[in-house]
Amino acid sequence: MTTTPNHERKTLILTGASRGIGHATVKRFSSAGWRVITCSRQPFPEDCPWEAGPEDHIQVDLGDPDNVREAIADMRTRLDRGRIEALVNNAAISPKGEDGARLGTIDMNTDDWKKVFQVNFFAPIMLARGLIDELKEARGSVVNVTSIVGSRVHPFAGAAYATSKAALAALTREMAADFGPMGVRVNAIAPGEIDTAILSPGTEKIVEKIPLRRLGAPEEVAKTIYFLCSEQASYVTGSEIMINGGQHV
Ligand SMILES: NC(=O)c1ccc[n+]([C@@H]2O[C@H](COP(=O)([O-])OP(=O)(O)OC[C@H]3O[C@@H](n4cnc5c(N)ncnc54)[C@H](OP(=O)(O)O)[C@@H]3O)[C@@H](O)[C@H]2O)c1
Repeated sequence: MTTTPNHERKTLILTGASRGIGHATVKRFSSAGWRVITCSRQPFPEDCPWEAGPEDHIQVDLGDPDNVREAIADMRTRLDRGRIEALVNNAAISPKGEDGARLGTIDMNTDDWKKVFQVNFFAPIMLARGLIDELKEARGSVVNVTSIVGSRVHPFAGAAYATSKAALAALTREMAADFGPMGVRVNAIAPGEIDTAILSPGTEKIVEKIPLRRLGAPEEVAKTIYFLCSEQASYVTGSEIMINGGQHV
């Protein structure tokens, strides 16, 4: 366990930290001495793979707006310094049909579509607005995790997921304009095919055409998130950085 007291550490609030890109992001920030408050549906793991205690985990279903409001109130009570240097909106859902089939605009049930928007789009803006005073106090930064599928049709990603990510990219632009005068930077990162549980069987066919000819690693995404939250990116806001091995070219 780190011996540095919480009030001397920078604080990151990170959604969807239990696996994949979020998991790598916790490790990146923790290794740089940050306090990371994680949020996901599952409880704090007994065998937590990084240095943290249960006081640094919030169990929340981002698909439930009331639960998100409760979680924001809970987060604010856990801050020793009343400030947050970074908020990373990473959690997302990507529903699939039977046998992993893509759910297009004709098949996707509208109630499920709204649920996808609640988790992938509304929860990020609820969190940023709910924590605006703490972000402002720290002149902090927000990173929204979008996707390559927000700007093109993808063979596996469904229409609800793709449109939620396009909306999140637009939200990043709007937030950069509104939060900028408070000294808060807002950026997005748009991963391509990253080696996590969200990938579908058949991704290897896509990889054959990616210029770098490989999947990305979650750690490579985490490094870019860290850069955007650091002093190195002090004049970067309203940007969406593609992390996809050249898949967009
Ligand atoms: N992997 C890729 O190739 C790729 C490509 C483009 C974009 N992305 C984006 O990158 C981000 C992370 O992706 P990933 O592949 O690491 O995803 P993942 O492995 O599926 O992990 C998703 C995370 O979100 C959490 N989560 C899901 N629903 C939630 C809810 N209702 N409330 C709270 N937490 C919830 C999960 O935790 P619990 O299950 O414990 O709740 C988990 O920690 C997502 O925004 C995704 O859209 C990924």
